[in-house]
Amino acid sequence: MRELREKCVMGVRLMNADRFYVTTPIYYVNDKPHIGHAYTTMLADTLARSHRLMGHDTWFLTGTDEHGQKVQEAAQKRGVPEQAHVDELVLRFQELWTRLEITHDDFIRTTQPRHSRIVQKILQDLFDRGEIYKADYKGLYDVKSETFITEKDLPDGCTVDNLPDYVKEIEESNYFFRMSNYQDWLIKHIEENPEFIQPEFRRNETLGFLRKELSDLCISRPKSRLAWGIELPFDEDYVTYVWFDALVNYISAVGYGSDDEAFARRWPCSVHLIGKDILTTHTVYWPTMLKAMGVEMPKTIFAHGWWLVKGGKMSKSDGNVVDPLDYADRFGVDALRYFLMAEMSLGQDASFTEEAFIKRYNSDLVNDLGNLNSRVLKMVHTHCDSKVPQASADAFAEEQAVQLWSKVQQAVEEAEKQLEALRPDLGVAAVLEAIREANRYIGSRAPWKQAKEEDKQPLYDTLVVAMESLRVCSALLWPVMPAKMEALRSMLGAPATEAEPADLRRSGVLVPGTDLPAAEGLFPRYQPPKTESKPQPKAPKGKTEGVVDIAECSFDDFAKLQLRVAEIKAAEKVEGADKLLKLQLDLNGEARQIIAGIAKHYAPEDLPGKRIVIIANLAPATIRGVESRGMLLAASKGKKKLTLITTDDPDFASGAKVG
Ligand code: ME8
Ligand code: MG
Repeated sequence: MRELREKCVMGVRLMNADRFYVTTPIYYVNDKPHIGHAYTTMLADTLARSHRLMGHDTWFLTGTDEHGQKVQEAAQKRGVPEQAHVDELVLRFQELWTRLEITHDDFIRTTQPRHSRIVQKILQDLFDRGEIYKADYKGLYDVKSETFITEKDLPDGCTVDNLPDYVKEIEESNYFFRMSNYQDWLIKHIEENPEFIQPEFRRNETLGFLRKELSDLCISRPKSRLAWGIELPFDEDYVTYVWFDALVNYISAVGYGSDDEAFARRWPCSVHLIGKDILTTHTVYWPTMLKAMGVEMPKTIFAHGWWLVKGGKMSKSDGNVVDPLDYADRFGVDALRYFLMAEMSLGQDASFTEEAFIKRYNSDLVNDLGNLNSRVLKMVHTHCDSKVPQASADAFAEEQAVQLWSKVQQAVEEAEKQLEALRPDLGVAAVLEAIREANRYIGSRAPWKQAKEEDKQPLYDTLVVAMESLRVCSALLWPVMPAKMEALRSMLGAPATEAEPADLRRSGVLVPGTDLPAAEGLFPRYQPPKTESKPQPKAPKGKTEGVVDIAECSFDDFAKLQLRVAEIKAAEKVEGADKLLKLQLDLNGEARQIIAGIAKHYAPEDLPGKRIVIIANLAPATIRGVESRGMLLAASKGKKKLTLITTDDPDFASGAKVG
């Protein structure tokens, strides 16, 4: 990555030119890992594998967050000591990562002494330097999120006199970190380093947060209330606030305070991958903590969106939590990895549905990639004695071959470019384009006809061009689907994947005459188990003269629609489409992108701030290559006049129900 090639780190040492250090959040050990946790970890794995393949000095860290109220309560409920409880629970994560072919270099647990020791060292140092002070605190405490809140954070209908059961009013002495001292510095750092917080709209969100006064951060919890944590080194009556403990994992795991050489090799981190739910802790708490410690900033904090199920967040109480193992068992680990990497446009939210999964599986993997592979290899086994055929010297100069090879080379460029841009989803899309082109190439070269000719050279040329294209594509897709792509490469007689970076841009890598193992189908077509479908009752017919015939809609049908108020945050034109605008919406904290045909009626700059009404649970669609999730409501008169349905009552903030 370009920024990693910068040489100087605080003027003390040279940074390894091709160094990559990626982290995932350390997940709460108490929760059963679901598709969201699997996603961030697979994304990190895909990036780490890509960088390793490019020969970069790569380090990939994940782990678990094991302290705090919820762990203490769960352990007490089971009647087991906290440590025994977390030792048991951590296995669910570790076993899942093994199953999902995750290649992390280290797994840190916040209960390990190598971590807690460093947290204490940092605390003592900050305390000695006056960065941490003691003060009385009186206020509201949210037990669920383990944070102090203010009255405005209370849910509708609740007041200080009528608190929800998870909010307690407390009065106690605590220790505070002088976070407010760093507010101006942080704003400047974010403004001067556009790559620091990504995507850009998250950067703006953090800047928006920082425009309000920043308070100091309470970093302690009295043991009387919570004992399961890292004890403050300067006051044994307190433990450390979970976030102050957890964030430190990113440096404690790579030698901060214990192994200067290891730390100098890994830090600063190239990218902290997180979900948008933990933006503030990572873009405000963490940088100010590092600044106070005198440690360099990470290069990038990237917040991806959420996987939503049926338009909402996954939650145990709604019973809509998707278990990654369910999909890995039915479709294979690599198909699951592929779906998650290809389907989420990085930064945006995405819906996880079984229909979308099956559709992508059957179209991209079975029809495009699997089909290409089996068509080509079948011919090689039948007509070339199961050996890599010998192509003629100008096989790649033939017109159709030139066209295919240039698509393949475009995929190579795109995959590298999008890796740097942290958009592996776009890299994958470019490879699939090349695979589709290869299928078209086979279709028009018709090797089954060439096989009937006396002169077999054109047939051999076709097969070699297709096989070389498959070889390059298999390497580009290897970080996403390692096991399947290894299998494919061995069927092609391709060299080890590690050798590939040097070979991505050239043909003639497969050695003619190489014996090929029997070809196997890569992706079996998924046949859904047959379910009985009830015939739909027909709507009653019959028209009354002069009355517009509107099909009746039952209340149940109407109730399926989620109509919501959403606030427009930004709007821009869609390139090459004069009727369309791309809107960024806020739906009660969730980021939404909607493509709407309103460009003839509204200028983009007039839209931010408007609170419009949208159908929030409309199935996502791709319009002109851009994802759209939801539909806005507008009143229109023919094509000439159109007005958005809005609400101007500030009481109806974004997220309010309509209906
Ligand atoms: O927040 N879609 O841990 P956590 C996409 N321990 N990603 C999702 C997701 C979803 N629906 N749900 C969860 C914590 N994630 C703290 C972190 S770090 C120093 C401490 C992913 O178990 C996403 O990466 O709640 C999100 O940020 C993370 O899991 C939260 O995991
Ligand atoms: Mg969470």
